[in-house]
Amino acid sequence: MNATILPEKNHYPVLLNEIISIITPQYGGTFIDCTFGQGGYSAEILNYSNTKVIAFDRDPDCLKIAKSLNKKFGKRLIFNNKKFSNLDKLKLGSEKIDTIIFDLGYSYTQIKDLSKGLSFNSQGKLNMKMGLNDFSADDVINKLDKFDLAKIFKFLGDDKDSKKIANKIIKNRSKKKINTEDLVKIIQTCKIRKNYKIHVATKIFQALRIFVNKEISELIFGLINATKILKPGGKIVVVTFHSLEDKIVKFFFKSMSEKKSFSRYVPDINSQENLFKLGFKKPIIPSNEEINVNPASRSAKLRFVTKERNISKFESQFLEKFNHLLEIENLSKKL
Ligand SMILES: C[S@@+](CC[C@H](N)C(=O)[O-])C[C@H]1O[C@@H](n2cnc3c(N)ncnc32)[C@H](O)[C@@H]1O
Repeated sequence: MNATILPEKNHYPVLLNEIISIITPQYGGTFIDCTFGQGGYSAEILNYSNTKVIAFDRDPDCLKIAKSLNKKFGKRLIFNNKKFSNLDKLKLGSEKIDTIIFDLGYSYTQIKDLSKGLSFNSQGKLNMKMGLNDFSADDVINKLDKFDLAKIFKFLGDDKDSKKIANKIIKNRSKKKINTEDLVKIIQTCKIRKNYKIHVATKIFQALRIFVNKEISELIFGLINATKILKPGGKIVVVTFHSLEDKIVKFFFKSMSEKKSFSRYVPDINSQENLFKLGFKKPIIPSNEEINVNPASRSAKLRFVTKERNISKFESQFLEKFNHLLEIENLSKKL
């Protein structure tokens, strides 16, 4: 059988048709695209008249894409080079938000830009900053002690060889500062099994990227603040790419859609009322056709909820559940 040769394309917005059918931009409204990226979702929404998009992206490289969309759609697109954890700082006035979308992680364009150091093929100084960061992977690998490194690798990457890799990093960095190639080599030498389905450095790179970009805090506070500013009847839609992200989103959506008290500390008079209505029980995943065209979409999972009502103090149970991960990210205070 002949292999299909796909046309070279930079970026495919993941699960785009499924998202459009959930958020129904044909009826107009104000949409927040928390992860603008290459503007794939924003442009599609703006193609429908009577829509407005308020977009966020932490990567300043997205500014030029936003400007080109402004030429086509004018002030219907407002771009903020900010982190989405700042959603609650938006000055909305009387504006009602109909839908808030998160398409988590990094874009193909970012991973292709080797200077960002997100890929195993990057060279030289470790980086992994997506934008608006306080420190880089170089600081983490070359400054934190072996106990902190092992915790980061274990809890954010679920790597079985976390301790071994952390020890080897400490040993090697006493001779020379560790760069991207050194780190990949260290990981390779710590892995005994040779037939890994994924690159041996995948989990450690994931852990470092999450830590450098504080992705757990961003997601948790992004979801909390999105819930606060969304109108009752509005939707939150999230696309995740790995199990840690999906676990957080699933817990938040599910636990806030089940009739029970929101916190054991705050007896809530609304305790018999749900914050959300769950979209579907199971996540929506890409079709085989989409995966054929865009293999990177294979791990995507889409979940969504509709906000039922405004409820105050809903977040303590959520924060408590993932506090151990927030504490891992707080190790960055040592840098
Ligand atoms: C998967 S891409 C989004 C692609 C986009 N949906 C599209 O169709 O072009 C994820 C984007 O989210 C951005 N991002 C990740 N975490 C962020 C955060 N906490 N705040 C703002 N932007 C973030 C990244 O810089 C990246 O551009």
